[in-house]
Amino acid sequence: METIATDVLATMRRRASCRRFTDQDVPPGLLDEIINAGLRAPTSFSLQPYALIVVREQRRRAALARVANGQAHVESAPVFVVVCVDLPRVERLTGLHGQLGRGRHDDALLNSVIDASLVGMCLSLAADSLGLGSVMVGAIRNDARRVSQILRLPDGVYPLFGVCLGWPARPVAAQPRQGGPALVHHERYHPPDVGVEAGLSLPDGTPAGSADVDHWRRQVRSGGQKLRSSRPVPWHPDNLAPLPSDDGDHDVPHHRSTGHHAVH
Ligand SMILES: Cc1cc2nc3c(=O)[nH]c(=O)nc-3n(C[C@H](O)[C@H](O)[C@H](O)COP(=O)(O)O)c2cc1C
Repeated sequence: METIATDVLATMRRRASCRRFTDQDVPPGLLDEIINAGLRAPTSFSLQPYALIVVREQRRRAALARVANGQAHVESAPVFVVVCVDLPRVERLTGLHGQLGRGRHDDALLNSVIDASLVGMCLSLAADSLGLGSVMVGAIRNDARRVSQILRLPDGVYPLFGVCLGWPARPVAAQPRQGGPALVHHERYHPPDVGVEAGLSLPDGTPAGSADVDHWRRQVRSGGQKLRSSRPVPWHPDNLAPLPSDDGDHDVPHHRSTGHHAVH
C-alpha cells in the first residue's frame, strides 16, 4: 500500500505535458491497461456518461490536428484518445430520452463533463506512470462539428478534449505551479484583497497563466463553441455523419447525414 501511494505521488510530482513523441507505437495491451486505468475514475451515479474514441489512424489524426490549429503532436503521437460526453448514453440509462441538453438538466451535463475529465486525467496519469508521455488537447473544440464528422459522433456526443499518448522523444520537465493562499482557502473563501496574495504570478515572478490568455479571452467573449443540443436520438447508423471526402477515408462506410448536427 505504501509503495503504491509513493508511486502515484512520484508520478504526479514529475508529470508534465509531452509534445514530442518518437515513432514507436504503443502496444495494444499497454493501451488497454491505460484506458482501463482511466475507466477506474469515480463516476457520478456509476453512469460513466462518456465515450472514448481511440484514434490510431494517421490520416484521422492529421485531420484532427488540422482542427487543433495544426498542433503537430496530435499527428505525431501514435495514439490520440478523444474524450467525449455521451448524452445519448445517459438518456438511455436514465430513461430521459431526448431531455438532456437544450438548457435543461444542466447538472447532468456538468456531471458528464466532470466524469469525462476525470477519465482523461486518470488515463493520462496511468500513461505517465508507465513511462509514456501525454498531453491534453482542448483545441479540438475549435470546430466540434468537424471533429464529429471525422469521428462519426452522433448528436449529443460532444468532444471535450483529446489526449496524445506516445513515447517521449525527450524528457519533459514539470512546470511551476502556483500554490498556497492564492488557490487554497481554509474554512471559507478569502478574497485576495484581505491579506491573501493576489496570486497573479508564479513563485519565480513570471505571470501566471499561459501566453495564450489573449486567445482564451477572445474565445470567452465570442461565446466559445456552442454545445450541440441533444435532440431525441434515434439509434440508427444513418444518423452518423459522413467523413468529408478530403480525408480519403474508405475503410469505414459513409452514412447519410440526417441534419442532426445542426448547432443550436
Ligand atoms: C482541458 C485542457 C486542454 C488543453 N489543451 C491543450 C492544447 O490544445 N494544446 C496543448 O499543447 N496543450 C493543451 N493543454 C495542456 C496545457 O497547456 C498544460 O497542461 C499547461 O500548459 C501546464 O503544463 P503541464 O501540463 O506541463 O504542467 C491542455 C490542458 C487541459 C487541461
